[in-house]
Amino acid sequence: MQQKYLFQLKEYTARQINILNSPKQLGHCDIDSEPYLKKLGIDIFNKKQPIQFSPNVNEAIHRWAPYVQGFSASFVQSVFDQYKFDYKNPMILDPFTGCGTVQVQSKLNGYKSVGTELNPLLKFIAETKLNTWDVPPKELLKVYNKLDLSKPINAPQFLKSERQFSKAVLKNLEILKGGIDSLSKRINPKIVDLLNLAFSSILVDVSNLKRSPCLGYSKIRNVDPHAPFVLMNQKVYQIIEDLKIIQNEYSDFILTSSQVFLANCMEYNHSNKFDLVITSPPYMNGLDYVINYKIEMGWLNFVENQKELKKIKDEMVVCDNVSKGLIKNFNPIYTNDWIEEIKRSIQKNIDRRGKYRRQDMPFIVHKYFDDMYKVFKMIVPKIKNNGRLILVVGDSLIADVYVPTDLLIAQIGKDLGLYIEKIEKARNRRSGQIRSYKLRETIITLRK
Ligand SMILES: C[S@@+](CC[C@H](N)C(=O)[O-])C[C@H]1O[C@@H](n2cnc3c(N)ncnc32)[C@H](O)[C@@H]1O
Repeated sequence: MQQKYLFQLKEYTARQINILNSPKQLGHCDIDSEPYLKKLGIDIFNKKQPIQFSPNVNEAIHRWAPYVQGFSASFVQSVFDQYKFDYKNPMILDPFTGCGTVQVQSKLNGYKSVGTELNPLLKFIAETKLNTWDVPPKELLKVYNKLDLSKPINAPQFLKSERQFSKAVLKNLEILKGGIDSLSKRINPKIVDLLNLAFSSILVDVSNLKRSPCLGYSKIRNVDPHAPFVLMNQKVYQIIEDLKIIQNEYSDFILTSSQVFLANCMEYNHSNKFDLVITSPPYMNGLDYVINYKIEMGWLNFVENQKELKKIKDEMVVCDNVSKGLIKNFNPIYTNDWIEEIKRSIQKNIDRRGKYRRQDMPFIVHKYFDDMYKVFKMIVPKIKNNGRLILVVGDSLIADVYVPTDLLIAQIGKDLGLYIEKIEKARNRRSGQIRSYKLRETIITLRK
């Protein structure tokens, strides 16, 4: 029988009607998590804390590159402080390195670290933030001040640069990048890396785009034509200031080993064993970590066309705009009763609605947990006895079905022999679909 809806007025779109009639309006993840928590035999404790990247803009080194998807350096430090008596000089792993927050904070504590990251731009950013601490600030300034501004390059061909930047800004970006690209091969490569990092970090700020958190066109943007030079100047001076701090206050740690591999953490076989794995995987219905950084990837020559972007994206832990072919050919190696039940409920709701933005959503959800299982399969054997795997993750609401991502990930850890030490709620979030539905971001601590 056709369900009777409260909202069927003509002026609403089908999507709006579904949202307005959703049984999840004013719902709460805590209530929908109860049956899962009961089965796991655990509770979630509140531990409110600034977990997002934003405070990093005031932290030395972390602030070199803006990265909305990162977590806060203070969160990573709080983990180190919590376990400082459990591990002496812990060896740290972040399988989803992103811009390197975990690894930079590890190095600031003198801890060795290893990371894997699939996006070559983010790998470059993390590596540059980690391995340039010995660059003499004066030398960087000298090279920067002598950039040859008479050899502009052409903006990347495959990007719609004329739409992304005003004509005057684009011209100045081409001049600046031309200056960096024409530096002599004799220049310290770490200085070239720092200048490229600085350049990449200003691109969105001088464009007609904004990241909030997905990259999209901004309605009102009137960028001063000189903004590329002004912001580049500010960034280079910020880096110089931080290098001075590091060389004065952290000189003992400059040579601490911090390795970042351009690799898929579902496949990478580490040669080390780790005391602490601290990480934040992609969120299930979250961001596209490739499209969101395509401008910087293009300008820094990490990709030359859309095909290359797609190739990187297809290897990643799945997000909800994954290519259809990948889902069609998906052969899971992991499942459990919860995943099967969630898939059935999503399918039922999609059928009832008749239309959904991705008809293959049940399989996207399944692939997410299958991918996470593959990551755990590679990592768990590399955790030392008594070591910990600490993940920050957010849950989801998909087609009116609650998906307790944190609890499902904890269950995967359990299946692979870890025990759940604690799950803490760091903050409340709102569902992107049903704004009145409360989601959460949690810290999962699993132990070997
Ligand atoms: C939530 S972000 C991590 C942010 C990080 N905590 C920080 O503070 O910068 C997740 C990262 O995982 C990367 N990623 C996704 N799938 C991956 C895979 N299979 N192997 C390695 N990295 C992957 C994405 O490119 C993204 O940078």
